Amino acid sequence: MTLLDWNATGLRVEARRDTPLQARFDVAGWGSALPERRVTNDELAAVLDTSDEWITARTGIKERRVSGPSESTGPLALAAARQALARAGLRGDQIDLVVVCTTTPEQPMPSTAAQLAAQLGSSAGAFDLNAACAGFVYGLVVAGSMLQAGTARRVLLVGADTLTRAVDWQDRGTAVLFGDGAAALVLVGDPTGRAGHVTHAAHAAGTPGGPVVVTDDLPGGLLASDLVDDPEGVELLTIAAGGSGRPTTADTLAAGDHFLRMDGREVFRRAVRAVTDSVLRTLDRAGCTPADVDLFVPHQANARIIDAVVNRVGLPASTAVQTVDRHGNTSAASVPLALGEVADTGRLRDGSLVLTSGFGAGLTVGTSLLRWRSSRDQ
Ligand code: ACO
Repeated sequence: MTLLDWNATGLRVEARRDTPLQARFDVAGWGSALPERRVTNDELAAVLDTSDEWITARTGIKERRVSGPSESTGPLALAAARQALARAGLRGDQIDLVVVCTTTPEQPMPSTAAQLAAQLGSSAGAFDLNAACAGFVYGLVVAGSMLQAGTARRVLLVGADTLTRAVDWQDRGTAVLFGDGAAALVLVGDPTGRAGHVTHAAHAAGTPGGPVVVTDDLPGGLLASDLVDDPEGVELLTIAAGGSGRPTTADTLAAGDHFLRMDGREVFRRAVRAVTDSVLRTLDRAGCTPADVDLFVPHQANARIIDAVVNRVGLPASTAVQTVDRHGNTSAASVPLALGEVADTGRLRDGSLVLTSGFGAGLTVGTSLLRWRSSRDQ
């Protein structure tokens, strides 16, 4: 099925125009921030027992950005947020909810979101959301739900992580995978209060095979989503110390328990299966097929995982967006960084059906199907 189908009278109508949206919102702005320092595979190979060939073949990664002293999660989130607000034509004090999706907050308390709101001069509600590398997709669903409920009308949603600060640079199994970055979206809820009940007539002129002129805008927002967790994978990807269970001590530091540890092979195996299932459930909930998807913007952990999911789901290969070669795994920042990139290059257009998915420590898995619509605030 394509986005536009011919109906019995010969008029071409948008197939799911009357399908209630799970959440109605437009994307008013987007922005991103990457650290200055590029680290290539060859640079890592100079200090670790690895090679450009191995990293490229096993992961698709060629380089990543590594944050310097003044480029921790907070400053990166602030730079991305300022860019997104400028594009939206909004000031910080016009936002009424700030959500920062992160596993590497600026500090344990207060939240990075509260710090960001203060820096932006905003008295908005603010909280961090930790769903690891699936964080941004979880954030989209949470923000969408709050917009739909009317709890907020303008949400600043940020994905920001600096996992290179949690990596053991002597562990070649993890050190080559991660990069740092932040990206933000400004989401604006439906001002008409008709969210979920889009029923206006939607005819487009033309005859089968002929030119099509769509006469009104498609509503933007969330068509369907799926948030799950694989409890059997809870120990596969961890930072064991530094929380309330095992506060940082000389012993935890000596044992290296403040570093990220991962069973990569098992995460790989479970991620391919779980993301495939989650994507298929989401498409089914929206009444869509893989052929309906215009862009697939997955979490950028490993090009082989992306390719495996694309093949198993049956998505057209041309829909898959890959930035992992240049960014590595930027955790909660990877999906919004990729979204911003396709929005900037014009690959993402109003009405595009965009499938986002993520997986991460937990093992959390999240998928959302969006109809992208950009607009300045209404
Ligand atoms: N360079 C060279 N050799 C390496 C490297 C390296 N950087 N890392 C591991 N190896 C070696 C291993 O020691 C092993 O050697 P051996 O056969 O002598 O024992 C061999 O390569 C194969 O190791 P595997 O772990 O089986 O390699 P695999 O093909 O599975 O690739 C990788 C490893 C890239 C980590 C892969 O498993 C993967 O990407 N897993 C998913 C990880 C992931 O996406 N994590 C992020 C989750 S998101 C979040 O929340 C942070």
